[in-house]
Amino acid sequence: MKILSFETSCDETSIALLELDDDLNPTIVAEEILSQTKTHVEYGGVVPELAAREHMQNLPLLYDKVLNDSKVEIEEIDLLSVTAGPGLKGCLLMGLSFAQAISTVNNKEIVGVNHIEGHILAGLLNNKELSFPYLALVVSGGHTEIVQVNSVGDYKVLSRTTDDAAGEAFDKSAHLLGFSYPGGPQLANLADTVSSSEFSLPIVMKGNVNFSFSGLKTAISLLIKKNENFKSDENIKASLCFAIQDSIVANLITKLDMAVKNTGIENILITGGVSANQYLRNKAKDRFKNVYFPDKLHCMDNAAMIALTAGLRKANGLEGYSTKDVFCRNPIK
Ligand code: KG4
Ligand code: ZN
Repeated sequence: MKILSFETSCDETSIALLELDDDLNPTIVAEEILSQTKTHVEYGGVVPELAAREHMQNLPLLYDKVLNDSKVEIEEIDLLSVTAGPGLKGCLLMGLSFAQAISTVNNKEIVGVNHIEGHILAGLLNNKELSFPYLALVVSGGHTEIVQVNSVGDYKVLSRTTDDAAGEAFDKSAHLLGFSYPGGPQLANLADTVSSSEFSLPIVMKGNVNFSFSGLKTAISLLIKKNENFKSDENIKASLCFAIQDSIVANLITKLDMAVKNTGIENILITGGVSANQYLRNKAKDRFKNVYFPDKLHCMDNAAMIALTAGLRKANGLEGYSTKDVFCRNPIK
């Protein structure tokens, strides 16, 4: 099955052509992921209107490039898929309209895909050994949740954030330390230059399965205010970064540990933008036996995971979501 897929939920425009063999093994035939960081950096965050306009410009260019690179004609495509939500409405509409036009002109079936389900299944792109059931820790700029994945389409949310997402905690802390948007990876890079810190931050809501990052963010901002000399002392700055990264990761690992104990499920996938974080990867590998990650390119938003989700749902006899539904009712309960 050859699946052509479109992802435009936030600030990455991505198109991928993925092939699933008879055993449902995926091969990415061609893909493009265009990040808009440069556009949004001066505003300190994603500007939805600008993001939507960039998707509109990028989509036709990436479409031609992916089909040229893959040497596959549009007639040979079996299924079109597109992120239907959740995401920024204007951005989603660009992907949906473009994909719908390709579908109409070429008379191809099209299905909508839930973006979070994409992240939850993204680990199957590169980890042949990852088997059901597994626990998916989804950590991105907008999401932090642990989902029990019994099979394709059978999900149960075990814990979620009561306020902010882990990526937001990284980015907002980074902003307070003077890093440009998105500061999470820069904060992580500086943290990784040291191996300990004189500062410490709490594990929030110990004993509760849910996450909370807003209290931690307050503790972080107080700590940064108390140590303003970080502005002239790179060692203090690195030490603060270490403490912040360590505490965000410790919060994630603690709740994941509870989920493993509560369910007895030991297969773990850590996915979403923050799963690119090397410190999180190392700590998770130290703590858990069977822990998997998407490759770093597919931690971020990408169309390959959307194609895989569409293909696996179809192969399992599950419906896609309406491409007219930009809210994309959540299949993840
Ligand atoms: O999944 P994603 O690409 O987009 C969303 O759906 O949000 O995740 C982006 C988030 C941002 O908050 C970014 O700072 C964070 O992932 N991120 C990282 C790292 N790489 C990306 N946070 C910490 N360390 C990293 N290496
Ligand atoms: Zn995402």
